[in-house]
Amino acid sequence: MRPPRPNGFRDRWAGELRAADVGKTVRVAGWVHRRRDHGGLIFIDLRDRSGLLQLVFHPETAADAHALAETLRSEHVLTAQGELVAREGGSVNPDLATGEIELSVVEAARLAEAATPPFRVDDDDPVDETLRLRHRMIDLRRAPMARNMVLRHKVTHAMRDHLNTHDFLDIETPILTRSTPEGARDFLVPARRVPGAFFALPQSPQLFKQLLMMSGFERYYQIARCFRDEDTRADRQPEFTQLDIELSFVDEDDVIEVMEGVMGSVFEATGFPIDGPPWRRMTYAEVMARYGSDKPDLRFGLEIHDLSEAVAGTAFRVLGGAPTVRGFNAGARDVARRDLDELTEHARRFGARGLIWAVVGEDGWQRTSAGPLEEAQRAAISTALTAAPGDLLLIVADEELSALTVLGELRLEIGRRYALTEGQPHAIVWVVEAPMFERDAAGHLTAMHHPFTAPTGDWSDPASMRSRAYDLALDGLEIGGGSIRNHDAAEQQRVFDVLRIGAREAQARFGFLLDALRYGAPPHGGIAMGIDRIVAVIAGEPSIRDVIAFPKTASGSDPLTGAPAPVDAEQLRELSLRTTAAS
Ligand code: AMO
Repeated sequence: MRPPRPNGFRDRWAGELRAADVGKTVRVAGWVHRRRDHGGLIFIDLRDRSGLLQLVFHPETAADAHALAETLRSEHVLTAQGELVAREGGSVNPDLATGEIELSVVEAARLAEAATPPFRVDDDDPVDETLRLRHRMIDLRRAPMARNMVLRHKVTHAMRDHLNTHDFLDIETPILTRSTPEGARDFLVPARRVPGAFFALPQSPQLFKQLLMMSGFERYYQIARCFRDEDTRADRQPEFTQLDIELSFVDEDDVIEVMEGVMGSVFEATGFPIDGPPWRRMTYAEVMARYGSDKPDLRFGLEIHDLSEAVAGTAFRVLGGAPTVRGFNAGARDVARRDLDELTEHARRFGARGLIWAVVGEDGWQRTSAGPLEEAQRAAISTALTAAPGDLLLIVADEELSALTVLGELRLEIGRRYALTEGQPHAIVWVVEAPMFERDAAGHLTAMHHPFTAPTGDWSDPASMRSRAYDLALDGLEIGGGSIRNHDAAEQQRVFDVLRIGAREAQARFGFLLDALRYGAPPHGGIAMGIDRIVAVIAGEPSIRDVIAFPKTASGSDPLTGAPAPVDAEQLRELSLRTTAAS
């Protein structure tokens, strides 16, 4: 950190003092991190943003300061001046950057008292998360959280730096807007001046960034807050942050190369150990078939194989009568019956009717849930899965997408249970050529990415069309996604037609975009990266809540401010609203 401007509070950062400063008179300020009273000498670890410094209070040489130190408690705020001295041999602390020195305090003043904190700031023991969020300002004082905030800043700084030097313009887009179609539920804001009408908070700046391309800005970026009213999870918040970019006159390779440049800079700036770009690209069809996921975790193998041929001719209906049979070799695992029941339960949670398992012995299958399966088919499966004695084989018979999805989840579960990612290098992959449309529960086609993505393929069979989209997956987490867009109004309407959005409805909902497409729209495309997820992976945090200063709980509320909260009847009246919720 740059040296502070000397004032009555401090003239140096506490955590940046070193042995070379011994003999200097310095003033520091911060919080009481820890206090130790040695019946005579009092030691205080003073904490500021830069780190910790040990202060020592002597009763004989600085009686007033020592008297004050007797009354100091955890998290009191103080300023102290004194002489920096070298610690004596035995008391050097090699774990602390300032561990060779201490400040022999001459004069000190308390700037604020502090109530006893609801949990300790000076250790990293787990604390109930609701309590942490309720007292977030104290939680953010703890070293791991402070580190995460600094890391987050480094990430966004590296992003901005890279884009600023590559001709991108940072342009803001509205927060009070109309619904944007990213497929989630909108947060709505009632419009006082238009009773009964609502603004929607943007699910992403998608349509605005496309308009900016039509305005001729060529290269746009924004670190943009997005709002989606969906269930909160470890990797999902109702309010999250994207690095959003869009470019004109580009194809897929251009966007991918720009984002590889950005992410390469981010990984370098944060010291994240991963090979530099260009990164591997795999098609959606390939990752689904091999890993049962559109965001595969490539840190371990356990690849899925098609076993339909291997089971051909079996009289065992479960396998013989299924549309497809897929499975993978989970490796040599010492599994008890309970483990197999748990894995079956796990498969059911993801929609499987059942799970077929087999433990391979020296001579054929030693144990299996597929009792009636003939020896020839067992042998063919073992060959297809290159099974060795001791291996656990997991097999699902179902429609292709269901079988792959269930096996993909089982693969991750095996990865977790047996810590298969431990010590493995990070793995990043672009997933390209996803289908343009997928079927919803009612059997209707919906856009897999979003409706503004350009399709390729045969219009006479929309279900077979692919999108010009690309997603980036890091260690099994989708960290970004984007596409080349439709820049032709008629083409865009064709997509809407497939989605059963007629011309009139399209005009009503997206008329501003369709109009803009008629006034000279350049070919364009872009991508958005999930900053919260990126920071969480780099920090090694399992939840994005730990890399957001003020996140929402799993139930979507904020224990710090108490939001969401009821409002006055008067406020509702002004907004022409009445609530039906029981008060
Ligand atoms: P998409 O919806 O794929 O694309 O979002 C881009 C990235 O944002 C992150 N993300 C989230 N992170 C935390 N909480 C959430 N609820 C959440 N939802 C998404 C993910 C995801 O990859 N407008 C398009 C981008 C484009 O086409 O240019 C969009 O928003 O990491």
